[in-house]
Amino acid sequence: MRQEISNLNDALKKDVIVVNRRSFFGALLAVGSAGMGALLAVPVLRYVLYPLYAKATGTEWSDVGDVSEFGNAKGPMRKTITFTQRDGWREVVSAQSVYVTRDDKGQLAVLSAICPHLGCSVSWQAGNDKFVCPCHGGEFKADGQHIFGPPPRPMDQLPTQLKNGKLQVHFEYFRSNVPNQEKIS
Ligand code: FES
Repeated sequence: MRQEISNLNDALKKDVIVVNRRSFFGALLAVGSAGMGALLAVPVLRYVLYPLYAKATGTEWSDVGDVSEFGNAKGPMRKTITFTQRDGWREVVSAQSVYVTRDDKGQLAVLSAICPHLGCSVSWQAGNDKFVCPCHGGEFKADGQHIFGPPPRPMDQLPTQLKNGKLQVHFEYFRSNVPNQEKIS
């Protein structure tokens, strides 16, 4: 009887040792897998969440033309510029019309052709010496100051710089129909 009990105890000890080894290696494997999963998840999460923290803007400086081109201009000159915008993963190349004109100090300035009322395209009427919007009759002076109609502010002036003899502009969009310039991208 005593011998049988002793054999039983030995068998139980072996089982405990085997089970403990299995548990240890199982836990090690689980921790290793979790760590590897976490490591792989970081780049995936960064990729998936990128559009949430990336700015939807990013317009660049666009060439408008050689400065010499605008020296003898009699009035605002219409130009088409292109620029690239990043929106999440997408890169969008856009074209917009701008006017090169002179500000009230006689310095070169670039105005967006987008009417600050509801976004129609404003055109320069040299014969009448003013900008006119075809949609609701808004009118502006050559320097963009508002003179008539529903637009609540002057035409939007854009940031400019001179580089290697070229006039460059940083195109921006502004909220429509509000009295102050509010940049939206
Ligand atoms: S959109 Fe230009 S006046 Fe209304």
